[in-house]
Amino acid sequence: MTTKWAPDSWRKFPVQQMPFYADASKLSIVEQRLAGFPPLVFAGEARKLKRKLAKVSEGKGFLLQGGDCAESFAEHSADNIRDFFRVFLQMAVVLTFAGGQPVVKVGRIAGQFAKPRSSPTETIDGVEYPIYRGDIVNDSAATVEGRVPDPERQIMAYRQSAATLNLLRAFAQGGYANLEHVHQWTLGFLKDSPASAQYEELSSRITEAMGFMRACGITAETAPQLRSTDFFTSHEALLLGYEQAMTRVDSTSGDYYATSGHMLWVGDRTRQLDHAHVEFARGIKNPIGLKCGPSLKPDELIKLIDVLNPENEPGRLTLISRFGFDKVEKHLPELIRAVKREGRVVVWSCDPMHGNTIKSTSGYKTRPFDAILNEVRHFMAVHRAEGTHAGGIHVEMTGKDVTECTGGLRALRDEDLNDRYHTFCDPRLNAAQALEMAFLVADELKKEQALRPRKFEDDENVEAAE
Ligand code: PEP
Ligand code: CO
Repeated sequence: MTTKWAPDSWRKFPVQQMPFYADASKLSIVEQRLAGFPPLVFAGEARKLKRKLAKVSEGKGFLLQGGDCAESFAEHSADNIRDFFRVFLQMAVVLTFAGGQPVVKVGRIAGQFAKPRSSPTETIDGVEYPIYRGDIVNDSAATVEGRVPDPERQIMAYRQSAATLNLLRAFAQGGYANLEHVHQWTLGFLKDSPASAQYEELSSRITEAMGFMRACGITAETAPQLRSTDFFTSHEALLLGYEQAMTRVDSTSGDYYATSGHMLWVGDRTRQLDHAHVEFARGIKNPIGLKCGPSLKPDELIKLIDVLNPENEPGRLTLISRFGFDKVEKHLPELIRAVKREGRVVVWSCDPMHGNTIKSTSGYKTRPFDAILNEVRHFMAVHRAEGTHAGGIHVEMTGKDVTECTGGLRALRDEDLNDRYHTFCDPRLNAAQALEMAFLVADELKKEQALRPRKFEDDENVEAAE
């Protein structure tokens, strides 16, 4: 890939997982309209995220990335966004306080609409339909007309992303995320869950610490870090026509940035070196993620890093491993060693969801919570053994009390899945499971810190550098 990059250079490369639009002129009109719309995020924000991720790559911070597998047009409400944001804040506070790490918060939200699929069609009651590829492409309801890719959906996805982001910005900056409200983030239905009791205890300790700080003159009024937080957005860069239309030159740096989200990632099914998705990702300056599944060989990973981060810029590349709990120990060490040997700077993050999907006896696609936690445990243990920093987790989760993944402290069973199985794509952690996961990760982070105690004089304030 030594040819010159342009926002449309991906079009000359072979491409996987893209829908076929029968009406090319309608598609092109939509893409031109999108190209004229305002950016959703700004280059300066993407750079700020990159600086924070650079700190994570040095071992000083932890990336929390999570949200829906697929956002949907049907479930776009303020309540859903607020509930997600609350649980996400709770997880972040657990990781910060119990895990002792500054947490970089990145949602799979405000743009996570396009889905790669294992098969181009599905058969329901003897009828074969084109597969659902996310609301930005076609309709999840199985009708022949609804499954036809419709370019107009890209405009709807853009508008929904803008509205979602608007609310998230208000929540993050407008007082909702104030640490003085740490007790109030608990969701009503979570009140009697075991993870919630643990959270209550932790938030009381935070409130106590805040009381002490207040007595010393540090309050939410005097310290902005206490009353607001930085929250970033991310999604898979899958639908390249949309991404191209949202890619703009930043007037400050003269560089190209994708303005559809702060961080974009390349999926495990579209990470071929000589294909379109990698070509597109290499030219945008945003922080990017690369999903690393069991078929990725160490030498191939190094070649991908050469293309995606040729300058070895810290914070640019996050490797998101997703092997399946029983394959981490086999695959992760060889990737870590190759990256170390070649002196590449990356953030290592763990997606414990996509390698642990099974079909339940009741017929639902599910993920046993134990398998999910075990992938995280193995990921953390391998990093401890290799002397590298386990830098983040990447999870599919919701703020709702859904029944999609089995297990957890409330012990959801196969036969419970039917109760509230609401996902438009993959099974997500519900709010209680998400919180439980945060406590587990915090414990694991403490084990890492016991091996490599941080010296406080080494810690610069990330905010101060901005
Ligand atoms: C996803 O993150 O929703 C996804 C499809 O992941 P992967 O590319 O790792 O399979
Ligand atoms: Co998914």
